[in-house]
Amino acid sequence: PLKQRLLVVANRLPVSAVRRGEDSWSLEMSAGGLVTALLGVKEFEARWIGWAGVNVPDEIGQKALTKALAEKRCIPVFLDEDIVHQYYNGYCNNILWPLFHYLGLPQEDRLATTRSFQSQFAAYIKANQMFAEVVNKHYKDGDVVWCHDYHLMFLPKCLKDRNSGMKVGWFLHTPFPSSEIHRTLPSRSDLLHAVLAADLVGFHTYDYARHFVSACTRILGLEGTPEGVEDQGKLTRVAAFPIGIDSDRFMRALENPQVQEHIKDLKETFAGRKVMLGVDRLDMIKGIPQKILAFEKFLEENPEWREKVVLLQIAVPTRTDVPEYQKLTSQVHEIVGRINGRFGTLTTVPIHHLIQCRFVGNVEKPQGGLHNSVCAKSCILMHSMDRSLDFLQLCAIYAVTDVALVTSLRDGMNLVSYEFVACQDSKKGVLILSEFAGAAQSLGAGAILVNPWNITEVANSIARALNMSPEEREKRHRHNFKHVTTHTAQEWAETFVSELNVTVVEAELRI
Ligand code: UDP
Ligand code: G6P
Repeated sequence: PLKQRLLVVANRLPVSAVRRGEDSWSLEMSAGGLVTALLGVKEFEARWIGWAGVNVPDEIGQKALTKALAEKRCIPVFLDEDIVHQYYNGYCNNILWPLFHYLGLPQEDRLATTRSFQSQFAAYIKANQMFAEVVNKHYKDGDVVWCHDYHLMFLPKCLKDRNSGMKVGWFLHTPFPSSEIHRTLPSRSDLLHAVLAADLVGFHTYDYARHFVSACTRILGLEGTPEGVEDQGKLTRVAAFPIGIDSDRFMRALENPQVQEHIKDLKETFAGRKVMLGVDRLDMIKGIPQKILAFEKFLEENPEWREKVVLLQIAVPTRTDVPEYQKLTSQVHEIVGRINGRFGTLTTVPIHHLIQCRFVGNVEKPQGGLHNSVCAKSCILMHSMDRSLDFLQLCAIYAVTDVALVTSLRDGMNLVSYEFVACQDSKKGVLILSEFAGAAQSLGAGAILVNPWNITEVANSIARALNMSPEEREKRHRHNFKHVTTHTAQEWAETFVSELNVTVVEAELRI
């Protein structure tokens, strides 16, 4: 049978473009959980519609990039600099992102943010309409359109306004907060109504779905049912679809000779030390300062471990044009520097902060000062690396890790925890996992769950993890490994799309 055509629409395409000349482009993998999960989607004849991460003002450049992307089945949406500033940096990443993760608006420029709210929201709607136009152009009868994430909450409405017969699903990759938080958004009702235009609305966990339904009942006064939300006889189905990873891809990678070689090197580099690992986009929600402070407390209280453990913190620069992210970067550098000064010796430091020398957007690669001093100390594994951490290297690092530390203050799911588990079948290391990550609901029985705000608790958990008996590690790992290998990205996508097909048929029967 013919595979069903699927149009996947997300702000971020799986590849980001780098300009090499007037009409030449190179493409690199984009970072983040959304892209990782969607790469596992295989059963469909899929096309990707989204932003390639660069500003392309000229027609020659746009044509050449469109052609290069077509080979990857990607279709670009071109956003100009002002839209990117107001929609992506502003409304999406300075307002919706912190709010959905319970961080509130940025402290310092709260008033400024409040003042620019209307113009940013207008840009958000405009950007969503630009996505809708591209979808419309490529849509064929029978296609399924799957919209993703907080960038595109208006898209279901924009699409249905153009063509009410389109099958439209929307999935949120972040938490959906309590309705008391959502209520504070000036555009709270518009956003909810726009999402409800979809046929099916999906979340990672049952809690997020429940929060969304209560926002619709309390703020819009609509009726919530076990199936979803009803508005004047029209039902929008709301459900939980926990995401996963393509676990086979990670397990296959471990057999690759290059990965084996990396593993050997890493084992030599860290001989005699236990390896603790953090892998995060450099984002406020990941609780990186909290994690490092907890590690400091652990070293303070357990002097016998000081020479025997190392923390590798891999931080991927992200959204570098947003001031809050810039502040976080310098804050993390400062804390790492202080702790390494305190516990480092002539030959080693306790924290290897591997910040990647890749800066996206229009921030220049910083020269001298900060960047050089950080790189000289930290980029030991990726000395001249100029791009996102190579997939094979990442797998090798996961495989040699004894304890992984995920301390998100809030996180939709957190796929790094899944990837770690997938790579640990021989080592059976321990996962310390924040109770505020969606993954706590699926990996909770195998991981040590912690409240990342409680540094004492995290420090004690580090000690517990490092001292855990092989039997207990094995038992915990087995639980997590089973989950990660049976709840895959592929299964997630198939379930969502088949549910969407069923929902549309049922709606037709109801009329
Ligand atoms: N990742 C990446 N480049 C790197 C390091 C990590 O693309 O240099 C990937 C990582 O493997 C994972 C994703 O980024 O698949 C992060 O997903 P997660 O759900 O943990 O968090 P998110 O970044 O989506 O908030
Ligand atoms: C999270 C979001 C994604 C986003 C990713 C990377 O996973 O849910 O939508 O793509 O972070 O962030 P960026 O802003 O670089 O796309």
